[in-house]
Amino acid sequence: MSRPLPSVFDQALASAVRAPSPHNTQPWRFAVRPDTVEVWLDRERVLAVADPAGREARLACGAAAFNLQICLRANGFATLVRMLPDPAEPALAVTVRLDGNQKSTAAERRLAEAVFRRHTNRRPLLDKAVPPAARVALKAAALDEGGQLEFLDASGRYTPVASLVRQAEALQAEDPEFRRETAFWTQRDASSPDGVPKTASGPPPRGHGVVSLRASHENRDLPEREYEREPLLGVLLTRDHGPYAEVRAGMAMQRVLLTATAEGLATSFLSQPFETPRTREALAALFAGLGQPHTLLRIGYGYPARLTARRPVEDVLTRHGDVNA
Ligand SMILES: Cc1cc2nc3c(=O)[nH]c(=O)nc-3n(C[C@H](O)[C@H](O)[C@H](O)COP(=O)(O)O)c2cc1C
Repeated sequence: MSRPLPSVFDQALASAVRAPSPHNTQPWRFAVRPDTVEVWLDRERVLAVADPAGREARLACGAAAFNLQICLRANGFATLVRMLPDPAEPALAVTVRLDGNQKSTAAERRLAEAVFRRHTNRRPLLDKAVPPAARVALKAAALDEGGQLEFLDASGRYTPVASLVRQAEALQAEDPEFRRETAFWTQRDASSPDGVPKTASGPPPRGHGVVSLRASHENRDLPEREYEREPLLGVLLTRDHGPYAEVRAGMAMQRVLLTATAEGLATSFLSQPFETPRTREALAALFAGLGQPHTLLRIGYGYPARLTARRPVEDVLTRHGDVNA
């Protein structure tokens, strides 16, 4: 097989690090071999309080692997993706291997291009419904990667889920360890290569909406604003659960987020209920029969927010073998 031009791996890695991660911890490392990129979970960057099992970190690694793969595909390379390929190395989340050439599709190129525009938008959404065609596209994106996206307005689960978000937010606000960890990673200066900068936070809400974004992500330098009352919420599920399902869910989540970006939609996360055991169990019980819930997304139209920084690719990369890219 012909070797890829070095710039192709470089671009794919630059795409990989644009993936979302909890508090922008970027819990990944990459190892580049002549025809393979490995995505490793970086345990030192797993949130010890919010994410002790590394669940959210595996979602982030899956998202990074999706970005890698879609960039290679958009550049005409076929890829073979294996999730948790080595039982002896549970930190090896994904391998993406080059598998010859293929003609890229317009859909692949559209998603690859959206990687550099996608961002978490914590600002108020506009009062404009997400049209049926966009919903279909988002659901299809999840299915393409072995996930399932359930919109809550259609399911009668909206109120109980919104209530779990509020309960978890209250529990976390009372927990000094949680507050300490969140404070460490948020309200950063815009030049910080990791963590969530103030510039990526939303204005404080005026009044109470049905769902609450994290209070720790408010930018109190901004005047209060009214938020949408009932944003569209989507839960991403997989049939199975456990580490493998979490990596897969991360890939599906990223395809959904990039599809949303390509459709002109803003997205943000409501992860609070996944991060306290009681609300996580209640959430799983609500979706019993449908699948294992992994993440909760808020989706709608909004004005774009700022992109956040990433550590340079060279800081998260190891090169092996005959790779001089
Ligand atoms: C698994 C996961 C959970 C997240 N949970 C939240 C959350 O609860 N609230 C929030 O505002 N952002 C959340 N985020 C978004 C990250 O903070 C965001 O991806 C990171 O700061 C990088 O910014 P970007 O997405 O704009 O590139 C989450 C991201 C991931 C991958």
